Amino acid sequence: MIKKAVIPAAGLGTRFLPATKAQPKEMLPIIDTPTIQYVVQEAVDSGIEDILIISGKGKRAIEDHFDRNPELESRLSNEEKEQLFEEMRHISDMANIHYIRQREMNGLGDAIYYAKQHTGNEPFAVLLGDTIINSAIPVTQQLIDAYEQYQSAIVAVERVPFDKVSRYGIVGGKQLSDNIMEVTQFVEKPAQSEAPSNLAIAGRYILTPEIYKALEHTPKGKNNELQLTDALMLLTQTERVIADTIEGKRYDIGNKLDYLKTIVEYGLLRKEFSDPFYHFLVETLAAYGNAKKPS
Ligand code: G1P
Repeated sequence: MIKKAVIPAAGLGTRFLPATKAQPKEMLPIIDTPTIQYVVQEAVDSGIEDILIISGKGKRAIEDHFDRNPELESRLSNEEKEQLFEEMRHISDMANIHYIRQREMNGLGDAIYYAKQHTGNEPFAVLLGDTIINSAIPVTQQLIDAYEQYQSAIVAVERVPFDKVSRYGIVGGKQLSDNIMEVTQFVEKPAQSEAPSNLAIAGRYILTPEIYKALEHTPKGKNNELQLTDALMLLTQTERVIADTIEGKRYDIGNKLDYLKTIVEYGLLRKEFSDPFYHFLVETLAAYGNAKKPS
């Protein structure tokens, strides 16, 4: 049983400046809902209610978002805005959320190490706070199902174009079935010529407590930071690690172009905007196409 999830959300968000100068990138909204709320919802939809958010400097807005706001609630209730009132209450009741602050920016591996005391001897899920995945079955649930079968660390992966492998952790190994691979190689952000495949780590993991020992023995890697990907490589020496090719569409909110694409897709998916937004896009594209074609 996976009962706990860890959401690392301490990164500086330099790829999204200036928007992230004074606000966490995890709070960037997809229309009206902060990215991290989707991430918490995915954990909850996968049956997890105990969530540890690894936060850091300048991340207080995340804590405020998942806290009660009595002033706002009483205002909404006085104005008889029942539905909004319920929605606001729901956010603070979604899960049992704990916080710990990463003191220095020492990488994803270091951020995960902060969860050691909280997760203890249990396996746990990890959901990166700047990635959302739209899928029929929540991706964390897909990984939990794989964990139940293999009883070992599980990493969500997806195929990416070969010219994008240097943006991700990349895995290589022995394919056990269509979507399951026993991993023998983990490389963080390799050059295209050094990538063992084009299967990229998709920001969701199930980790076993053994990861902490591996992290203790992992030297600093890419960008002089402690990389979770390197610790997973070490873990393969003592236990099996599985890569599960997930079903779903991943959105990386941490970079501007992907964020823009996410907003457009989620706008089209939202019932109340779907029709007018679709027509707006069609008209805009036609007008844009007539005026100046993108080079
Ligand atoms: C992190 C991980 C990388 C993974 C990626 C997914 O990198 O280190 O292995 O593929 O998330 O988004 P980051 O994007 O934080 O640099």
